[in-house]
Amino acid sequence: TYVIAQPCVDIKDRACIDECPVDCIYEGPRKLYIHPEECVDCGACEPVCPVDAIFYETDIPDEWTGYLDVETEVFAPLGSPGGASGSGPLSHDHPVVEAAPAVVT
Ligand code: F3S
Ligand code: F3S
Repeated sequence: TYVIAQPCVDIKDRACIDECPVDCIYEGPRKLYIHPEECVDCGACEPVCPVDAIFYETDIPDEWTGYLDVETEVFAPLGSPGGASGSGPLSHDHPVVEAAPAVVT
């Protein structure tokens, strides 16, 4: 799977959403999340992020490897909704994202 790491927090450019052929990028209050079971590893989202927040799971920089678990855990209560546009935004961010320092834009 691909993972959206900390650079997305408070930026949420959303360019990645338009690229995903399977609609598996879900929006939370401060970050977007790739559903690890719905992502088909097409890689289309990775180059369009202006802040380079998206990585293949084995290419995540050391400081953000915890985001692999973040993406998995945030969907635990939801299972596999089967599409972000139909299910709407997530009501809560993962605790790691909630605790991330605020980014002033
Ligand atoms: Fe975030 Fe980059 Fe997508 S900032 S919303 S991962 S384009
Ligand atoms: Fe979608 Fe990116 Fe996966 S475009 S299928 S989330 S690699």
